[in-house]
Amino acid sequence: MSKHFKRYTITSALPYANGAIHVGHLAGVYVPADIYARYLRSIGEEVVFIGGSDEHGVPITIKARQEGITPQEIVDRYHAIIEKSFAEFGISFDVYSRTSKAIHHQTAAGFFKKLYDDGKFIEKTTEQYYDEEAKQFLADRYITGTCPHCHNEGAYGDQCESCGTSLNAMDLINPKSVLSGNAPVLRETNHWYLPLDQYEKWLTEWIIEGHKEWKSNVYGQCKSWIDLGLQPRAVTRDLDWGVKVPLPDAEGKVLYVWFDAPIGYISATKEWAEKTGKDWEIFWKNDESKLVHFIGKDNIVFHCIIFPAMLKAEGSYILPENVPANEFLNLENDKISTSRNWAVWLHEYLDEFPNKQDVLRYALSANAPETKDNNFTWKDFQDRNNNELLAIFGNFINRTVVLAHKYFEGNVPEPTVWNDEDKAVIEELRLFPEKIGKSIENYRFREGLNEMMNLARLGNKYLTDQEPWKKFKTDIERTKTILNLSLQICANLSILCEPFLPFTSKKLCRILNMEPQTWKQAGDCNLLKTGHHLNEAEFLFEKIEDEAIENQVKKLQLCKD
Ligand code: MF3
Ligand code: ZN
Repeated sequence: MSKHFKRYTITSALPYANGAIHVGHLAGVYVPADIYARYLRSIGEEVVFIGGSDEHGVPITIKARQEGITPQEIVDRYHAIIEKSFAEFGISFDVYSRTSKAIHHQTAAGFFKKLYDDGKFIEKTTEQYYDEEAKQFLADRYITGTCPHCHNEGAYGDQCESCGTSLNAMDLINPKSVLSGNAPVLRETNHWYLPLDQYEKWLTEWIIEGHKEWKSNVYGQCKSWIDLGLQPRAVTRDLDWGVKVPLPDAEGKVLYVWFDAPIGYISATKEWAEKTGKDWEIFWKNDESKLVHFIGKDNIVFHCIIFPAMLKAEGSYILPENVPANEFLNLENDKISTSRNWAVWLHEYLDEFPNKQDVLRYALSANAPETKDNNFTWKDFQDRNNNELLAIFGNFINRTVVLAHKYFEGNVPEPTVWNDEDKAVIEELRLFPEKIGKSIENYRFREGLNEMMNLARLGNKYLTDQEPWKKFKTDIERTKTILNLSLQICANLSILCEPFLPFTSKKLCRILNMEPQTWKQAGDCNLLKTGHHLNEAEFLFEKIEDEAIENQVKKLQLCKD
C-alpha cells in the first residue's frame, strides 16, 4: 500500500536565466511536471506547482562581461523571455519566481546561517587562482590555458571543449586570467563545506534501501555516486554575484549557486503563500505533503543527494518522495546544443506556430525521454499532428458534433436502445480515468497519453463501425443512441485530455457547451444530458503542410553552417 498524502509540493528545475527555453527542457522537465500538476488538481488534490529562474552562477557573470552589461541586466532579459514563453505555452505554475528576489536572498541566507549556527559545516582553507590586477579570485571558467590531454590552447579551467575532458583549473598548462590576460597566482581562501561523507550512511538507508521504487535511471545514478564515496562539498564561492554569505568575515563571498538555487523552491513557495494567503510551511514541513522534483538527468545528484542532505541537516523539512528525472531529448538525431544553436526555442515556436501549443506538447510527451534518450524530429512532429491528433482525435470530435447538428439541431439526442456493442463501449469507457490516472501517478506520461488517445481511437472506431449516416433514414432510434454515446465520449475526452492538451480541452468544452469537469466525473456516459444544446463545430487541429516542416529543417541547417 502506498502512503496517502494530503497535498503536493511539485517543483520543476529552475532554468538558468542566461538563455531561453528549448524543446529539451520542455520534454524533460516542464511538460511532465505540468501534466502531473494538472492531473492532481483535476482529481481534487491540493497542489503548489513551483517554477522560477535560477539567476546566479558564474556563466551569467561571464555572459554579462562579454556583452558589457551587468549580470542583473542579463537575468532581467532572459527571465522575461522565459516567463512569457512558459505562460503562453500553458505551463500552469502556481508561482514563477526568480532567485534575485529579496525573499530568496533572505531565505537562502537564513538557511545557510541556521546550518552554520548548528555546526553543520566544516571550514577549509585552500589555494585558489587569484588575479592580482583585477583583485579577485578566479572561478574555473575565468581561467583559460592549454589542455594537458589534447593541447588545445583555449581550454577552460573546468573543461576542455575540444576533447571534452573535464578539468581542474590547476591542470591547465600556462593558465591565464580571462579578466586581465595575466598569469594568475595562488592565494589562500577560506570556504564552508557540507560534509557529505557524514551523510553516506543515512543516504544509503533513505535511497538505496528506502526508495527502490524510484526510476531505474535515477536510482542507478544515486547508487553509483554513493558507492564511489561522497566528499565534503564547498557551499560558498569567491564571487560578487549571488547570495552574500551572511557572516562577518565573508567579504566577497557568495553561496554556491547549487546551494542557493534549490532553496529557491522554498522562497517561491513563500512568495506564493504571501500572495494567496496560504501557509508555506505546511507544504515543506508536514509529512502529509508529498514533495516531487521534476528535473533532467544532469540535475540528479543535486536533487537526490546534495539538496536532501541540506534539508536533513536543517532538520525541519520533508524530503522528496520522488525525483522522476528524465534522460535527454536529441534534436534531429543530434545532441541539443545552445552554443551551436542546435535547438528549437520555445518563444520562436510560439511565434511561428500560433495556437499550436498542444501539438508541441503532444509531440514532446509522445517522445518523452522517460527511460532513455529520445529524439525530436520535425517530420515526427508533423506525423503526430496529421496522423494522430488530426486524423484520430480531431476527426472523431468533428464528425460527432457535425452529425449532431445535422440530424438533431445540435441537441444531445436521447439514447433509447443499447445493443451489445454500445454496452461493450460503455464498459470500456468506464476504465479510462483510472488507467490514465495510474500512469500519471507513476510518472509514465507517455503511457498515459497513449491511453488517452486510445479513448479517441475507441470513439473513432465506434462511430465508423456504427455508421449512423446510413441508419438515420431507416433507424432513427439507433442513430440517437450512437450519437449520444459518441458525444459522451467527446465529453470524457475533454476531461481526460486536459493534463496533456489543456488548450484542446478548453476548446472542446466550448464546442460541447460544457463547463470543465473534474476527473471524478469521467468514465460516465451521462455527462451531457439529453436535450443539452451544443455549440457549432470548430476544428481542433489543422493539417501541417510539408512546407512548414521544410522551413523548420532549413532553419536548423542554417544554424549549423
Ligand atoms: N539551473 C539549473 C539547470 O538548469 C537547475 C537548477 S534546479 C534548482 O541545470 F534546484 F537548483 F533549482
Ligand atoms: Zn583537451
